[in-house]
Amino acid sequence: MKLTPEQKNFVEGLLSRMTLDEKIGQMNQESPSIVGGFDVPFSELIEMMTDGRISQEEFGRIMSTAKQDFHEDDIRAGLVGSMMVNDPRQNNTLQKIAVEESRLGIPLIIGFDVIHGFRSVFPIAIAEACSFDDALFEETAHMAAAESRAHGINWNFAPMIDAARDSRWGRVSEGPGEDPLLGSRFARAKIRGLQNDMRSPLSYVAACTKHYVAYGACESGRDYNTTSMSVSNLYNVYLPAFRAAMDEGAATVMAAFNDLNGVPCTVNSWLLRDVLKTEFGLEGFVVSDANAIRECVAHGIAEDDRDAGVQAALAGMDMDMGTHIYKDHLKAEVESGAVPMAVIDEAVRRILSVKVWLGLFENPYVPEELIEAYEKGLPEAHVALCRKAGEESMVLLKNEGGLLPLKRKQKISLVGRLADDRNEVCGAWAMAWKPEDCVSVRAGLEAAGADVAYYPCGGPEGEIDLDEADRACREGDVIVAVVGETDAMSGEASSKADISLPGRQRELLERLLASGKPVVAVLMNGRPLALGWEAEQLPAILEAWHLGIRMGDAVAAALLGDVNPSGKLSSSFPSVTGQCPVYYNQPSTGRPGSKSKFTSRYLDAPWDSLFPFGYGLSYTSFAYNGLTVAEQSDALEISVRLKNTGDREGTEVAQLYLQDVAASLVRPVKELKDYCRVTLAPGEEREIRFTLPKQAMGFYDNEGRYRLEDGLFRIFVGGSSRDCLMQEIRLSF
Ligand code: NOJ
Repeated sequence: MKLTPEQKNFVEGLLSRMTLDEKIGQMNQESPSIVGGFDVPFSELIEMMTDGRISQEEFGRIMSTAKQDFHEDDIRAGLVGSMMVNDPRQNNTLQKIAVEESRLGIPLIIGFDVIHGFRSVFPIAIAEACSFDDALFEETAHMAAAESRAHGINWNFAPMIDAARDSRWGRVSEGPGEDPLLGSRFARAKIRGLQNDMRSPLSYVAACTKHYVAYGACESGRDYNTTSMSVSNLYNVYLPAFRAAMDEGAATVMAAFNDLNGVPCTVNSWLLRDVLKTEFGLEGFVVSDANAIRECVAHGIAEDDRDAGVQAALAGMDMDMGTHIYKDHLKAEVESGAVPMAVIDEAVRRILSVKVWLGLFENPYVPEELIEAYEKGLPEAHVALCRKAGEESMVLLKNEGGLLPLKRKQKISLVGRLADDRNEVCGAWAMAWKPEDCVSVRAGLEAAGADVAYYPCGGPEGEIDLDEADRACREGDVIVAVVGETDAMSGEASSKADISLPGRQRELLERLLASGKPVVAVLMNGRPLALGWEAEQLPAILEAWHLGIRMGDAVAAALLGDVNPSGKLSSSFPSVTGQCPVYYNQPSTGRPGSKSKFTSRYLDAPWDSLFPFGYGLSYTSFAYNGLTVAEQSDALEISVRLKNTGDREGTEVAQLYLQDVAASLVRPVKELKDYCRVTLAPGEEREIRFTLPKQAMGFYDNEGRYRLEDGLFRIFVGGSSRDCLMQEIRLSF
């Protein structure tokens, strides 16, 4: 995000004409409030749904009859800077009030959770990251930007770039996995896709990178829980994606709910002012997460709302999401001198700058023709990209005896409630999909002409029908069982203490296996699952995640061999839940896990992941040979020969890792430094080259300083974090 000198002048001119009320209004974000239709306050209604007193359906029914208050009077009075709405005509109406009826005509910035696509829903982020395809990350973000802007949404609360190593945390589904380098490349590509196409005012949005920061490190994987860590861990693992996003010019940032080392991120002036705004150079603004300013009272860091608001404003929190604390308290605090006017001016300058850069002053509305065009249905190119993203995001975890791909003449018994539910394919945080765009696995197989019969048998919740499972086994040559999680089992407020297959699905698999027929498991889930038993018992497992609206097409193409799986895991999978957090780039211990007792291991489970980061099979095979490492003045030139040793074309993700063998701080056993996707014909061999800048071989210390330390390094190249060739090199910088 860059402003021209004229744009900067325009912002200053506007700022100089604003009253204090109008300034604070810009710092206030509203969502529609619900009035009438039920007898309890809206917050209690939400609570009733979350604690199970009413079902989601009941909640939906109440909401559909309730009247909404869009705060038109406040908008007209200049007391609202931002709204959260996803109805394009409503957005036009609200913009019209802001632009044509408020004193200064400042348009609203309209935000919404567009996390993995809008109406075109792509794979959840943890899945899309398995493609290791930066061009895809960018393309899907660009399409999401265009679709949301066509709905009057000019600010996407994405990308979510929290590094996450503990899959008990439900929000692992929303981000690019456990690795800081993959997370940084994902972040950069998403920012480019969302923000960089400025050919038309309707082709880009402001990104909102979130959640800043270390939310993924919440203790015991429990959502909203406390985080504590060393400065070096913060800088090496959790901050890199945010630094990358700022380097790419991300317009805004959302602070995380959690406290970090005792200070909630919402009021953490070191994180917001020193690191984000000063060190990383954020030019736009920071918004709180929903209700987070008020939660500082529950955190026990503020006595009351007023105190929380003062602390947040002083810490550099520019916009309040949803509490009205700024609206209700900041004016008096400025007048009493507790909050300097300069703090308010800085926040408003940042917010106005984003609005100006978005072109909202010139183009606040969405043309009716565009709204109508989207109402007609999704353009073919959007559908095709959803399918492509789905195809690239699947990971083949096991394929004994080449059971997959299935032969066209095989009679498939398709099992599992999830296989036939098009409402489950999009996963968590998909808010604008339409059922008619979604393809279930069953529909995908049928459309692909497979000989398939369907037996629901049961799913992640409720009972299972074992008689039906027996029937499925009698009738089919091969059983395809779609098992996993519902969309509500991951995402926000969906942490789990047990991440094995939920419900009675393992029992179902056991029954299917007992028939002696070959069983393929297609996993549909939002987090890495603990698959120790499944990996031992099942001959074939395809990790398909929640793949988005074209899930069924993509899964059918992989099962039938029209697509050769090429995804690699963006997060490690444990055998059992007790191994969490489990990740590949762990700091070296003094006693690395081994068979001997007094090492870093468990008595009752493997010490290492079941399927490591970077792992994934193909219907062909690849061999790496001849790793060479040559030192140039400011980089290492690394080359390796990669050969397709199988009999069909395939795409491999070649991965480059580094180990700093001895340093002044304990370093990870391996760290990803680069990757590339390579497509090879059967028998084809190619030289793969990586250039590793020496500057990228250092690490951050506990003062947040970057250090390059001389000594011995190991360079690894291979097809997963576990399976690599290795060369050593000694360097002085
Ligand atoms: C809470 C979530 O943590 C955040 O990711 C989301 O963007 C906001 N609510 C707004 O819906």
